[in-house]
Amino acid sequence: MQYVKVKVIKNSKVAAQIFELQVEVDLGHVKPGQFVLLYPKGCLLPRPFSIGDYVDNVLTIFYKVVGKGTRELTKLQPTASIYLLGPLGNGFDIPTHHINVIAGGIGIAPFFLLKRVADDVTLVWGVKTKDEFFGLERFKGWDIHLYTEDGSHGMQGMATDCLNTISKDTILACGPIEMLNQLIDFAISNNRYVQVLVEQRMGCGIGACRGCAIRRRAGGYFHLCEDGPVFDARTIVL
Ligand SMILES: Cc1cc2nc3c(=O)[nH]c(=O)nc-3n(C[C@H](O)[C@H](O)[C@H](O)COP(=O)(O)OP(=O)(O)OC[C@H]3O[C@@H](n4cnc5c(N)ncnc54)[C@H](O)[C@@H]3O)c2cc1C
Ligand code: FES
Repeated sequence: MQYVKVKVIKNSKVAAQIFELQVEVDLGHVKPGQFVLLYPKGCLLPRPFSIGDYVDNVLTIFYKVVGKGTRELTKLQPTASIYLLGPLGNGFDIPTHHINVIAGGIGIAPFFLLKRVADDVTLVWGVKTKDEFFGLERFKGWDIHLYTEDGSHGMQGMATDCLNTISKDTILACGPIEMLNQLIDFAISNNRYVQVLVEQRMGCGIGACRGCAIRRRAGGYFHLCEDGPVFDARTIVL
């Protein structure tokens, strides 16, 4: 883990409210599901983002513009710099056999890196409307199932609609809290190993502020930055 000032290589819009940011940085070995903290100008706290892709010292982050910090990120021009802390977090435990991935909206971000290490994958990706899809060409070779809530592309519905028919293999998932809650219910009632990447507010990212607590089903709390952000869905309450 390192705290460094990194140079922006690219920062461009790739879909509705979604940007692709590339910076130059040597992160060493990274795992899908790990994240970095970025320090946008004028923000007291850093903002966490999944490692979207990482190759030849180029880190790609896919971010959705939702508030002050992400709006600030959109202003970064190539050659500008920003402070970064990372890599952080545990990342997904990646099985060697077939994997099911379920992504909701920008929850697709950590799975671009998974594409570099796993071939036998069924991807189910759901968004509200077709303008929110991006980077689909990067998943060439995977078995892809797309859902839109408004039916504008792929099947009409939500990514979690696949749960009745999905194979018994490990599920890796990331998406909005409602989706993760459905996956938690599914994992508990079927006693299935579902790994969920939880996106919640963070303070320090290194276990110092205790601001990222989530409830542990067995009692007490996990801390997202130290114990996660990836959890066995059966062990948490959101
Ligand atoms: C481990 C991890 C990985 C993440 N990876 C990505 C990623 O790859 N791409 C991406 O776009 N986002 C990701 N996020 C979410 C991202 O950190 C937040 O969207 C971002 O911090 C919002 O900052 P902001 O200043 O723009 O919004 P704020 O001004 O802080 O908030 C604007 C609105 O967004 C809500 N919000 C803020 N933070 C979060 C959050 N973490 N989850 C849900 N709602 C939030 C607020 O409640 C508020 O309604 C990740 C979060 C975590 C914890
Ligand atoms: S973000 Fe500070 S303890 Fe987790």
